Amino acid sequence: MNQEDYALEDAYDDASGTDDDAEATRRDAGEAESSRASRGWWDRNADEYQSEHGGFLGDDRFVWGPEGLDEADAALLGPADGLAGLDVLEIGAGAAQCARWLAAQGARPVALDLSHRQLQHALRIGGGIPLVEADAGALPFRDGSFDLVCSAYGAVPFVADPVKVFREVHRVLRPGGRWVFSVTHPIRWAFPDEPGPEGLSVSASYFDRTPYVEQDEQGRAVYVEHHRTLGDRVRELVAAGFRLVDLVEPEWPAWNTQEWGGWSPLRGNLIPGTAIFVSERA
Ligand SMILES: C[S@@+](CC[C@H](N)C(=O)[O-])C[C@H]1O[C@@H](n2cnc3c(N)ncnc32)[C@H](O)[C@@H]1O
Repeated sequence: MNQEDYALEDAYDDASGTDDDAEATRRDAGEAESSRASRGWWDRNADEYQSEHGGFLGDDRFVWGPEGLDEADAALLGPADGLAGLDVLEIGAGAAQCARWLAAQGARPVALDLSHRQLQHALRIGGGIPLVEADAGALPFRDGSFDLVCSAYGAVPFVADPVKVFREVHRVLRPGGRWVFSVTHPIRWAFPDEPGPEGLSVSASYFDRTPYVEQDEQGRAVYVEHHRTLGDRVRELVAAGFRLVDLVEPEWPAWNTQEWGGWSPLRGNLIPGTAIFVSERA
């Protein structure tokens, strides 16, 4: 993609309209349906997402989730002064904020996302990061192309077959390379997605892996999220050839008074909101 691409499509308008009429349900959703829904939803909602959350994310910070845990403090990818010269792939990069931080540390990041509009926001912000529009389930790179692969809430929560994604990550990583990703903490699936007190009472089984689906009047999915338990995620990583190094559950910091959807200081002080898996290619 190039800058002209962003300018040409600045007045982008998706013909499929809004998601206001979508019905929320729990039902199965396979790989193709999930991928199609994600691309459409992120294309339609990228502008709103970036205008609502862009300030919190910062143009060139690496924020792992709504708690505000910053890679500059957490060093989950390894010491920041060891990132220089590394080839890094960011999956589900959105507007490539994290990739921009990586570039500032001297790394060579590539930002990959399924959504054309999200990548247009990456172009709008700038920084010269190489952008790739592709599905995380089929990474368009040669074997052993990267020293490090990372993702902050990108792709993994939205795919029906995470092991396929993890195997792809394993393939493109060099031996010993890290794969670090954050997702909604699985425990949150047992609670209503509400920031207030109504979000504190268990309303569903933690063990129910049925996807959350928003569908249109024809029953076509327009948004899909997939749930796995913590144990599922560990088994998926091991099945794809990774070794789990750490599982980080960021605590809600006192400085963060901001709500992000169902993530809030109230809930964040009581239950975890984000899980970050730090793994290494065996
Ligand atoms: C919550 S955003 C996270 C983006 C960025 N890391 C941030 O914190 O803003 C999720 C991103 O994952 C992307 N995504 C969803 N499914 C994907 C897939 N199958 N392959 C690649 N990217 C995907 C979406 O387009 C979206 O940009």
